[in-house]
Amino acid sequence: MIVAIDGPAASGKSTVARALARRLRFRYLDTGAMYRAVAEEALRLGIALDDAPRLARLAHDAEISFEYDGDDPVYRRITVLGRDVTSAIRSPEVDAAVSAVARVPEVRAAMVAEQRRCAEGVDVVVEGRDIGTVVFPDAEVKVFLTASPSERALRRLKDRTGAGYQAELEEVVSDILRRDEADSTREASPLVAAEDATPVDTTGLTVDEVVDVVERLVRSRRP
Ligand code: DC
Repeated sequence: MIVAIDGPAASGKSTVARALARRLRFRYLDTGAMYRAVAEEALRLGIALDDAPRLARLAHDAEISFEYDGDDPVYRRITVLGRDVTSAIRSPEVDAAVSAVARVPEVRAAMVAEQRRCAEGVDVVVEGRDIGTVVFPDAEVKVFLTASPSERALRRLKDRTGAGYQAELEEVVSDILRRDEADSTREASPLVAAEDATPVDTTGLTVDEVVDVVERLVRSRRP
């Protein structure tokens, strides 16, 4: 079974998808981390963010892999060609660069192929922007998470400071709005809710409350 969780930046996707995967014992697939990994490697190699052919080659050759500890369905590490980039993909530099990388159609094609391969034959909770529309249009459960801009900004601020980076609320708000704008208006697979997705506004809800809602959907669709 495939559970697709889409939504804008800091709408609660990661937290909800991880908790849901652990509850259901489904594998968790973090597609945003894959685009971030390509962006991180591009920055490291000094590839210009408008050099689509080089970014495409990089995405194709990057060998992104998730490593798991024991039977935890949530990955512990993400690597690019064997190099651990788990922390580096959360840096402000990657935050600022990732939309440009995710806009390139050939980068997306390489990531989508890899995402479909990762989900072959397993039950999986997949989180991203285009999961219910492009990657898995036949997913059994599709959810589109939203939250108010102020709640999203506070969540992202907490993520940033929790990861050890300095951050100011104003800067976080403008980063989120800029990224939403870029993700929603790009030509290739823009952020948009699938017609058959269930919208869930997470503003003011606890993680458990949101996970309960999605879990009920999963149980109702299970044969
Ligand atoms: O969810 P996130 O913030 O880690 O995503 C990082 C970036 O990758 C975000 O700007 C949008 C992009 N992305 C995408 O275009 N398609 C996906 N399926 C997942 C993420």
